[in-house]
Amino acid sequence: MRPLRALLCLWLLAEASRASRVRTRRELAPGLYEHGVYDAGGSYCQRGDVCCHGRDDACTVPYHDTLCYCDLFCNRTVSDCCPDFWEYCLGIPAPFPKAPGCARAGRSYPTGATYRENCNLCTCSPGGQWQCEDHACLMDGELIDAVNRGDYGWRATNYSQFWGMTLEDGIQFRLGTFRPSPTVMNMNEMHMNMDSNEVLPRHFDAAAKWPGMIHEPLDQGNCAGSWAFSTAAVASDRISIHSMGHMTPALSPQNLLSCDTRNQRGCSGGRLDGAWWYLRRRGVVTDECYPFTSQESRPAAQPCMMHSRSTGRGKRQATARCPNPQTHANEIYQSTPAYRLSSSEKEIMKELLENGPVQAILEVHEDFFMYKSGIYRHTPVAEGKGPKHQRHGTHSVKITGWGEEQLPDGQIQKYWTAANSWGTAWGEGGHFRITRGVNECEVETFVVGVWGRVSMEDMPHK
Ligand SMILES: *[C@@H]1O[C@H](CO)[C@@H](O)[C@H](O)[C@H]1NC(C)=O
Ligand SMILES: *[C@@H]1O[C@H](CO)[C@@H](O)[C@H](O)[C@H]1NC(C)=O
Repeated sequence: MRPLRALLCLWLLAEASRASRVRTRRELAPGLYEHGVYDAGGSYCQRGDVCCHGRDDACTVPYHDTLCYCDLFCNRTVSDCCPDFWEYCLGIPAPFPKAPGCARAGRSYPTGATYRENCNLCTCSPGGQWQCEDHACLMDGELIDAVNRGDYGWRATNYSQFWGMTLEDGIQFRLGTFRPSPTVMNMNEMHMNMDSNEVLPRHFDAAAKWPGMIHEPLDQGNCAGSWAFSTAAVASDRISIHSMGHMTPALSPQNLLSCDTRNQRGCSGGRLDGAWWYLRRRGVVTDECYPFTSQESRPAAQPCMMHSRSTGRGKRQATARCPNPQTHANEIYQSTPAYRLSSSEKEIMKELLENGPVQAILEVHEDFFMYKSGIYRHTPVAEGKGPKHQRHGTHSVKITGWGEEQLPDGQIQKYWTAANSWGTAWGEGGHFRITRGVNECEVETFVVGVWGRVSMEDMPHK
């Protein structure tokens, strides 16, 4: 019994495949209307001036991103006839209702068609209307105009690398610093010895005082890892300054992103205190040795490719080659414990002047993404556009100097100069200026300095 049934099955299968062999792709394909390709009507067979009597698989005209047929065979299953086949070729009404479709710029689009308007997707609904999403966009023409028309002291622009992203995307992928916990916030502040009438210069630029030791801004891409970028940036400058230019490493944010994983979330955000702990205890290699590879949004976490071990005397050495065959130098750079400065403008200035760039958290609002030049302060341009347009998130940056400008009304506008991590095409060559002395966007809330761990043997011998 069993073998017989098996034979029967085999025979049935063979018959089935023989039968399907003669059925063409065209016959097996679902009808255009069954897979949602509707049309508002339009002229297809008519425009192509084709009507084929009998079967002719070549009797087609382009139809959206596929083909439709103008031969009699298409009517067999009411499957792939062009919308005007019945009327134009047979002179009878189509056996289905005409979908209304949607109009745009003088063209008609079928139900289900889509187009993108900045960060919102618009879809042609069955009712014949475009239905668009309603996200707040990261680049918003109205806001850019409002900033530039207003008298805010800075200019806004439309960045093509941000176009099409939502504000939510910007906050989710372009920032990436967790607000310091209350314990960390309460870290003892280091006070500078300051004479109350000590005079500080009106302008200061770390790159002018320490030429060749202040590193250019990097681009974090869609990796919410500003915690690693700002830490590596400040440590790079500090190590260069404290070794008097004997070492000028550009430290690797990727090393932190991939290896400092305890309570850290890589490209989904991280803590500054954790980053400094890692730099002190484990150290990192240069960006050249361990290049940045996580610029895509939501990358799978990349495994740590660099480890170090102690060599005694507080120093460490790499136990792996650079994850990049072009570079052999895999020295490990470390820092001393980071220290928190007070939020006093003058103390921050003095620290910058004496020891080099500092790290600061920054509360990033919607208008900051559009910053082009000038002295930034958060503007009220998005007020009245609803809460969706006023979301903000925590970021961290490297403060590199300060200055002041006289406004047309004679008032003095003081500012900080800081490096961001959105590449050098953003802002003023990757930098921005922001109002100083009023804790604008919390830039003076949590400011951190550090010493590079530089030993005698790292110093110039002379
Ligand atoms: C085309 O198909 C429709 C619906 O099945 C049918 O009513 C009509 O008679 C067919 N026309 C021709 C010309 O075969
Ligand atoms: C912004 O830039 C994008 C691409 O670079 C462009 O398509 C868009 O029209 C611009 N928008 C505005 C409001 O200028």
